[in-house]
Order: sequence, then structure tokens, then C-alpha cells
Amino acid sequence: AALVRYTFVVQENNYTRLCSSKNILTVNGQYPGPTISARRGDTVIVDVINQATQNITIHWHGVKLPRYPWSDGPEFITQCPIQPGTRFSQKIILSDEEGTLWWHAHSDWSRATVHGLLVVSPKVGTNFPFPKPHAEVPVILGDWWKNDIQTVMEDFLRRGGDPAISDALTINGQPGDRYNCSRPGTSIVNVDQGKTYLLRMVNAAMNNIMFFGIANHQLTVVGTDGAYTKPLKSNYVAISPGQTLDILLEANQPQNRYYMAAKFYSSNPASQFDNTTTTAIIKYNGNYTQSPSEPNLPVLPAFNDRNASAGFTSSLRSLASRDHPIDVPLKITRKLFYTLSINTLPCAINGTCAGPRGRRFRASINNITFDTPRTSILGAYYRGMNGVYGDDFPDDPPFTFNYTANNLNASLQTPMNGTEVKVLKYNDTVELVFQGTNVVSGIDHPMHLHGYSFYVVGSGFGNFDRQRDPLNYNLVDPPLQQTIAVPQNGWTAIRFRANNPGVWFMHCHFERHVSWGMEMVFIVRNGKNPDARMLPPPRDMPKC
Ligand code: C2O
Ligand code: CU
Repeated sequence: AALVRYTFVVQENNYTRLCSSKNILTVNGQYPGPTISARRGDTVIVDVINQATQNITIHWHGVKLPRYPWSDGPEFITQCPIQPGTRFSQKIILSDEEGTLWWHAHSDWSRATVHGLLVVSPKVGTNFPFPKPHAEVPVILGDWWKNDIQTVMEDFLRRGGDPAISDALTINGQPGDRYNCSRPGTSIVNVDQGKTYLLRMVNAAMNNIMFFGIANHQLTVVGTDGAYTKPLKSNYVAISPGQTLDILLEANQPQNRYYMAAKFYSSNPASQFDNTTTTAIIKYNGNYTQSPSEPNLPVLPAFNDRNASAGFTSSLRSLASRDHPIDVPLKITRKLFYTLSINTLPCAINGTCAGPRGRRFRASINNITFDTPRTSILGAYYRGMNGVYGDDFPDDPPFTFNYTANNLNASLQTPMNGTEVKVLKYNDTVELVFQGTNVVSGIDHPMHLHGYSFYVVGSGFGNFDRQRDPLNYNLVDPPLQQTIAVPQNGWTAIRFRANNPGVWFMHCHFERHVSWGMEMVFIVRNGKNPDARMLPPPRDMPKC
């Protein structure tokens, strides 16, 4: 395994999109940011230097960092922010991840522009579990606001309602031909006829699940979240914020140009959204038949087609081969049942409260809205400091109700506030069922766990049935993921072995839901053996 080094200078740079300029936070002046390339098992050191005027932290999304949560990045969970004019050298220990991952800022809403790919190639002497692609193509889905992103965040938190929707969806940082004032910048992917390409895709958007497709081309999904899958052929994919997909594209069509395109998906008919499709161009090298003046667009599911979204998501399967075996826990020692709800709070006197019924939005897990502390939970845990967090996160919701019915009365149930963690013993085998609720309104929640990959053993619409649903779990080839969209008014069951000691954040990857408190923390205790214990912190940990 090799040691790979990168320098990330966080800075402010002026960028223009949609004929409108603003300063954004970037890494090394690039938007989207630089790609980190390594091989399975390598260690990557990234020297993060903050030359901007605001705090920052960087998270390596999907990297498990065995026994070393110190580099994980979520602000006030595993570290204090890297303040302007300071630096932090982060050590990224790769273990069994292989495929497409990514990195992003984990401080307020700055990940909107501070993100990039983290590509983990097979070890020297080993191969992809599919024929070697001719080339690899980054496909970073994102979104763009004309306003300053920090202002967008502060503004919606002050108003108490939904955030302003983005002004454009983007592919590789560009809105594409269908937005005004974008055409010259539309990103172009050049391909050779007859060759196969590996698309390394991430959804880096703040608040949207997306559908993606390429006109006249079939996609073959071969991986997600840094693990391979059985090849899955499809005309479209659904991808959650935080999720990655590895997709094979065969360049086998006769014309010279086709659109690849992504658009918004939301199960919630009340959501406001930008119905414009973001596009990039697949351009065949050489002399092919001219396409019509506008290339073909892919046919994507309707914006609210929850069967298309859940159908794609539940079709992924682990490779489960000799070279890529699976290890699903079969005997479970910790059963957890977590409800995911959108809630509201009464309006403070003289406040503006643009949420439903003149209240303010909140969100919760098991009816607890997470209160972010002002110092690092990992630091407090390591030093045995009291008063920063409690260890009372409940295994079940505080009351049962018909989670997915029209909960108009329950809709005004006010969540509790707390900084509660769930403590797990080393090697606990955990089954966690996420239950979406219809309190205030039902919507998908792309749930993400730090420090682990988990097996997605089952999912469905409606209320989880503790007797019947487990009988249908897939324990043979469930996909190994780190971000999973829990369907609207539905449930998802995951399993993992708590063999990575540390402090690990879990949250919805919709940024507005994080701002409303849909997050919690696992503390996984040290095991007995020296190699089952957390490593000590580096000397340059940022201070609060
Ligand atoms: Cu992609 Cu906690 O993050
Ligand atoms: Cu959510």
C-alpha cells in the first residue's frame, strides 16, 4: 500500500454561472474540487490549509477510517473547525473500500461548493470485477444558488420555513443548455465509438434526490458507495445526495451527440422544485451522423415517481463473489428502531415562522432534535469530559402511532431537544430499522452513517411489521452502502457489525433536514485487544 499526499487550500474565488457572479468557497480554486486518486488499502494525507475567512472542516464520505475517527471531519462531532489562517493534516486510512467515494466540507452549508471525488482503484495486480473500461469519467451532480450559500442557510433558518430552491441543478459544476446563460459552459464528455467508459458518479446536491440517464444509451450499474454490485442494466438511475454510483457506459450509438441529463425527484407533492433538467453532452470523436440541432434527451421518470425511485434503489445487489465476499451479521445483539420525522415548533414571539400553520420546521430521530454542541463530542469522549452529551438516545420511539397515516394531529407533536448518543459495545451486531413518518409530511430521507458500511437487508412502503417483514430480508446478497434513501412513508432495515471504535455521526443527507436536527451520534466502545481500540489523536487537532 502506498502513501499519497495532497494539499487542499480552502479559499474564496469568484465564479460566474447563469450570468451572475459571486464568491464561493473552493479547494485550490477549483469547483467542483480536485479528485483524490488512490488504491485500495492506501493511506492518503491531505494537508488542509484554511485561507478563507470562515471556519471549515472536510469529511471523507464513505471512508471508514478504522479506529481513527480523528480525521472524519463533521464539525463539533469529531473535531473543532479549522479556523481561518490555520491548518489541519488529515490522515485518510483506506481499508476495504473500492470504487467511487467523495469528500466534502462538513461545516454549515459549505459543502455546496466544497466537494470532489475520491476514487479508490483496485490494488496493483488486481482487476475490476468487469472488463477494464477504456477511460473513467467523473459525473458530479450538484446545484447552484445565485445567492451566497451561507446567506441562503441563515435566511431559511431565520424564516423557519423551507430554504430557497437552488437556481440550477448542475453536472460537473455546469447547469447545461436548458438554463439561460449557460450554453457555452455545458460540460462535454468525449467518447470513442465502440469503447466502454466507467462513470464515477456522485450526487453532491444539497437537498435533492435525482434521476439521471443518457439518451439512447443503456446504463450498467456496477458499484455503489465504494463497493461493487452485480451488474444492473437500466435506462435511468435514482441517486441520493451522498450516494455514489459506478456505471458502465457503452458508446455504441450512431449519432455524434447525445444528452446525459439529471432532474429533481421528490416523493412529496408539496415540495417546491426546479423542474429544469441539467444536461451535459456525450460527444463521439470522429465523423458520425450529425445529431439534430438539439441532441436527444433521455426519458426519465416523472419528478414524483416514488416507485421508480424505490424500485431502482431496491434492485441493487452485492457482488457476493469469492473475491468480493459479504459478511452480513446473522445473529443480532442490538435491535434499534428509529423514526424519522419532520416536526414543527411554535413560533417565538415576534419571530417569522414560515412553516406549516405559522410554526417553524424541525426534524427528529425518535422524536429527538439533535442539539449540536459547541465543542467536539469525540474530544469530550476521549478526555472523559462531562456535560457535552448524554448517552440516553432511545432504542425505540417514545410512543407508537400509525407512522404513515395522515398524522394531522400528531403533526403538531413537538420534538424534544437533546445531544444524545447511542453507545454500542465493540462487535455488537446491529440491526437498525429506519421508519419514515408522515408527521407534518412524508418524504424520503437519504440516511448516512459515518465510519461504517452497512448491508441494506430490506425496505418497503408503509409501517414496518416486526413479525412479517424480517422474513423477507435479503441475507444472501444485500448491497453494502453508506447512504440509503428511506422511502417516503416507508422503512429500510440495515445491519452492521460495530467493529470500528470511535464517535460516528449519522444523519439525513438533505442539508435542510440536518439544519432542522435530523441527526444523532453513535459511540462505539473500544474492544479488549489493542487492535480493537481507538488510536490516539494527532497533535494538530484543531481547538475550539
Ligand atoms: Cu456526506 Cu456526514 O456526510
Ligand atoms: Cu431527511
